[in-house]
Amino acid sequence: MKKVLVLDFGGQYNLLVARRVRECGVYCEIKSYRLSMEDIRAFAPDALILTGGPATVFEPNAPMVDKALFEMGIPVLGICYGQQLMMHLLGGQCRKAETREYGKIELTHIASPLFENVPETSVCWMSHGVEVERMAPGFRVIATTEGCGFAAVENAEKKLYGVQFHPEVLHTVYGTQVLENFLYRICGFSAEWTMASYLDEAVAECRRQIGSGRVLLALSGGVDSSVAAALLQRAVGDQLTCIFVDHGLLRKDEGDQVEQVMKHQFHVDVRRVNAGDRFLSKLAGVTEPEHKRKIIGEEFIRVFEEEAKKIGAVDFLAQGTIYPDVVESGLGGESVVIKSHHNVGGLPDCVDFKEIVEPLRRLFKDEVRKLGTELGLPDELVWRQPFPGPGLAIRVIGEVTEDKLAILRDADAIFREEMRLAGLDRSTSQFFAVLTDLRSVGVMGDERTYDYTLALRAVQSQDFMTATWSRLPYELLDKVSGRIVGEVKHINRICYDITSKPPATVEWE
Ligand code: XMP
Repeated sequence: MKKVLVLDFGGQYNLLVARRVRECGVYCEIKSYRLSMEDIRAFAPDALILTGGPATVFEPNAPMVDKALFEMGIPVLGICYGQQLMMHLLGGQCRKAETREYGKIELTHIASPLFENVPETSVCWMSHGVEVERMAPGFRVIATTEGCGFAAVENAEKKLYGVQFHPEVLHTVYGTQVLENFLYRICGFSAEWTMASYLDEAVAECRRQIGSGRVLLALSGGVDSSVAAALLQRAVGDQLTCIFVDHGLLRKDEGDQVEQVMKHQFHVDVRRVNAGDRFLSKLAGVTEPEHKRKIIGEEFIRVFEEEAKKIGAVDFLAQGTIYPDVVESGLGGESVVIKSHHNVGGLPDCVDFKEIVEPLRRLFKDEVRKLGTELGLPDELVWRQPFPGPGLAIRVIGEVTEDKLAILRDADAIFREEMRLAGLDRSTSQFFAVLTDLRSVGVMGDERTYDYTLALRAVQSQDFMTATWSRLPYELLDKVSGRIVGEVKHINRICYDITSKPPATVEWE
């Protein structure tokens, strides 16, 4: 199978580049630009894509690559910084642009395989302050914008292409067409990367790695660990044991559902530990969000270890790590920790194992879902929304008690059911109820009530780094509000959260 290597220079859209290539049915991996020439050769890519990045190519310490990259005889597409770098290294020149081009810009091209089936003028997405001033020898201009004389360049003979705009961003109307042209016409690849083919490969790879060893997996009930469990079960059958730590902070009926599917449908050896009481007693009196996360993270590991000891030594510890967790930014930059996203299923150090297996480490979230479906997992499980490791503990504001959890579970279940009935559950990125710590006065029948305020939250997001609040229909909000107040005791007021992220976060804690 053909594969593309995406060299990452730290631009904000870089993961998108890899994702779009895979959407075109071509396998690719994204790696830091620091990868040595030797490792690149060992990877043996059939084509290269150099991504954008924040650096300025002619300034000291700008990220560089070996010029030999362009002599490997494989097609190269440079995007934004990638294009500038290619020009700079091959004998051209770049300069600071007089005006920074940013946003949707009209692009005009001439005939080139890169622009096959693209109208002569179309809208593209630009975001750059540096531009090519002089092309490297052997190149010609194939597209321009009003402010950029070298919006796309080609050296057809060597199959080297550069674009100043971002084909991976959806605002570039024909971006996918440009990428397909590069992959299918210029590189000569075909769409052969499908989930069915990947599944066979992944099963074979797990079998190769695991042999006759024993594998232990922490099942959280989320999409990733469930898909990992189903995949490992297919690969190594009863060599797999799953520990499902039910921390009592899951949504209504969730624990039972996961157990049911995994144990009875997939015949996975699941050891469920109902540890709700332990977690609640540790959380007693705790109100600070980060403190809650810490307690839950630590207790999770402790329960997991105790259970793992009963099983004894295993050869492998499996994790549902996915691609965005393992890809480091090209510049190795660290972002500021806003919330300590402890992921249940994190690595316990005292469990006795030799190696880690991460069967999903090359997949994006939507690909994990496709794989789940391919494996035959039910839609309710595969299409589960992202659910925070600390669960409902960070959706009960203030101290967590069993009573509050019960109220929240019932209210959240109604919201989810109505979203499903309205057909909005898959198109909304994440939605849930939050039990605030606020009480207010209401009237029910002839009686005064003094009860909790519940908040509803629904957002649209690509990557959860930013999110906008969902414009849910008033009729739906009205129905949910009426049902919750009518059916769930101790809630007498409902609010809808209309803040985006930033400045708010998705979760309330
Ligand atoms: P925030 O609230 O940071 O949420 O805007 C962004 C995404 O991350 C999820 N989230 C968590 N996931 N452990 C997790 O595994 C956590 O502690 C945690 N806190 C937030 C949140 O549900 C959203 O999808």
